[in-house]
Amino acid sequence: MGIRLISAASHLPKGRLTNFDLEKMVETSDEWIQQRTGLISRTIAEDETITEMAIEAGKKCLADLNQETIDKIKILIVTSASYLQVVPHVSASIVEPLGLNRDILAFDLNAGCTSYIYAMDIVEKYLKETDNYALVVASDKLSDYVDYTDRGTCILFGDGAAATLWSYTEKAEYYSINQTITNPDVLYREGKYVHMNGAEVFKFAVGTLPGLIEDVCEKGDVNVEDVDLFLLHQANGRIIESVARKFRLEDERFPVRYQNIGNTSSPSIPILMTQMLEENVLQKTENLILAGFGAGLSLGVILLKGNGQYVVK
Ligand code: COA
Repeated sequence: MGIRLISAASHLPKGRLTNFDLEKMVETSDEWIQQRTGLISRTIAEDETITEMAIEAGKKCLADLNQETIDKIKILIVTSASYLQVVPHVSASIVEPLGLNRDILAFDLNAGCTSYIYAMDIVEKYLKETDNYALVVASDKLSDYVDYTDRGTCILFGDGAAATLWSYTEKAEYYSINQTITNPDVLYREGKYVHMNGAEVFKFAVGTLPGLIEDVCEKGDVNVEDVDLFLLHQANGRIIESVARKFRLEDERFPVRYQNIGNTSSPSIPILMTQMLEENVLQKTENLILAGFGAGLSLGVILLKGNGQYVVK
């Protein structure tokens, strides 16, 4: 028993911050940034809010669906690690703009960059054996919280949103492993700005992700080598390469597509999913891993097993 993806769409704001722009703001270089992160530029929301980006992504995701499907959406989760608006919650603000019905459980969820993965776990349990649909919209605007005089953080983050619609299916299988470790010193917001010990986050991700991926594969009775695609949080391309090397698997199974987007926090995985749909890769994937990690510290890994059955569109 599992869930299947009905539709996915992302919204990337038009504003752009290049490595050359950053060279003028802090002591850094295009060469250093590309070597350490693979990044060339980042999408920046400028005047657009998290709510507006969430609406844009949500509308695109629902655009081709009929009213019967829309009527079956009974849960909406908006994930973010950078809410400016706490009350009313963003999810409540987007129910009507997205044309959703009022009989809906709508709430916001923040678990740093792992938010989307944790939302998926709630969705899977909520949908079980029903014919309801669940909409998860991830929207983050970290540029509101980045100190553009701190070269250790400002090179990394971009803004964006992505929406995914899910339903229950008997044909696919779903397995997950979540972890939460109390460590408020590695990645946190104090006052206006995000502070990060980048090297520690790097070590944490590279040190823990491979073990959790193995564990979730064991749960689902799948060999790691038989996972076709690993969609890992696009935090830093080098983290992803390092996990691929640990398993001695080809880089193609570990796509890195954030070079001109940046680390967007919670939308990074669903943005990557939309890219993989556009590239016609997700549709052909039998076993799929989704993995997030970030502030908290938090970690979540999902195995979707289902012979392409989890993707409808
Ligand atoms: N340009 C040039 N030099 C820089 C720099 C920049 N933008 N940022 C840091 N440096 C310098 C440091 O001051 C340090 O200099 P020193 O050796 O003279 O002290 C040196 O580069 C190495 O710093 P370090 O922080 O160890 O670099 P790094 O290789 O770890 O790369 C990150 C920094 C941020 C790119 C990297 O740690 C990273 O991406 N970590 C993961 C962060 C992450 O995933 N966060 C999100 C989680 S959701």
